[in-house]
Amino acid sequence: FNRIEDLDLDGKAVLTRVDLNVPTENGKVTDTTRIEKIVPTIKAIQEAGGKPVLLAHFDRPKGKRVDSMSLKQVVPALEAALGQKVEFADEAIGGPAKRAVAAMQPGDVLLLENTRFYPGEEGNDPTFAASLAALGEAYINDAFSAAHRAHASTEGLARLLPSAAGKLMEAELDALNAALGEPERPVVAVVGGAKVSTKLDLLSNLIEKVDHLVIGGGMANTFLVAKGIEVGKSLAERDMADTAREIMAKAEETGCKIHLPVDVVVAREFKEGAASEVVAADACPADAMILDAGPDTVEAIRGVFDASKTLIWNGPLGAFEIPPFDAATNAAAQEAAKLTREGTLVSVAGGGDTVAALNKAGVADDFTFISTAGGAFLEWMEGKDLPGVAALADGRQ
Ligand code: 3PG
Repeated sequence: FNRIEDLDLDGKAVLTRVDLNVPTENGKVTDTTRIEKIVPTIKAIQEAGGKPVLLAHFDRPKGKRVDSMSLKQVVPALEAALGQKVEFADEAIGGPAKRAVAAMQPGDVLLLENTRFYPGEEGNDPTFAASLAALGEAYINDAFSAAHRAHASTEGLARLLPSAAGKLMEAELDALNAALGEPERPVVAVVGGAKVSTKLDLLSNLIEKVDHLVIGGGMANTFLVAKGIEVGKSLAERDMADTAREIMAKAEETGCKIHLPVDVVVAREFKEGAASEVVAADACPADAMILDAGPDTVEAIRGVFDASKTLIWNGPLGAFEIPPFDAATNAAAQEAAKLTREGTLVSVAGGGDTVAALNKAGVADDFTFISTAGGAFLEWMEGKDLPGVAALADGRQ
């Protein structure tokens, strides 16, 4: 697919799909990461003489105008990140949008209202896509994190206008390719989180592609159960035990080594500072629950990281939101950060919880790449084609 430099943007209105689906509280943005990451693309369009017309969704209004989901609330944060005024049109198509685009002067940035206020967005309706396309002369997609959606602004537009990937889209794809596409081996994947059932496709894909798979969080308990180990009151999906056994059997065939906890941190209650103890993974008391991996497990994970050249991480190793059950996640994250700083490990992480956990561990800046994507990162790790990326490749060049 094209990059920004491949298109002639001089004097043109450039429809630029970005992801402004950022967390807010009382109408104020509380995490500006996604906003900061699109700045290079907007500047590059301006430097090429183009006029960026930003398209984005916010939350899930389901095709209706919902005032609390207006993109107007992100304008101040966008202005702060760009260091300039941002114009806002309270429609994404039609007369008001057209007039706002027509009024743009060189150097201006315009943000259009939430594309999901229109049913044609999620329906990828050709008429709606054409109404968007009528507003500009080129299309840049910089929203990797929305690329798993085949919507008008993420997919349809790429087929109607000369299109290119933005800088963040490029960086995301390069990082993911370095982690799973053509990685330096050995590759270790860390997969954590509560449930096996939500990450089945991901586990099946990974055991074909990686050399080591570290399983943590609640889903590790399900694997322990599958091995006939009692886990007391721990979170575990007992009805997934057969599936977990199948995954372990298939991993043997593909030569992927699965690493489960060898020791665990258990407690009788799940609250901050709760009394806890470390026991062997097969010795969880009947009235206790596993809330984190233990120190021997962390040591083993360190060893795997040390022996690997590439790490891909999705999901925390324990109940990281509540100390002290963040210890294993923090320690493993710190080891990955250290090896990355030393230049021996390429480390890529993504998914909402994962990024929160790495931020909490204070190491996010040390990773080679932290994806801005949640769902799109997971679908990509599952080996699925992302419609937004595919459309860039086979849409209008
Ligand atoms: C996200 O926040 O992960 C993306 O913006 C996609 O949002 P969605 O899950 O509502 O499609």
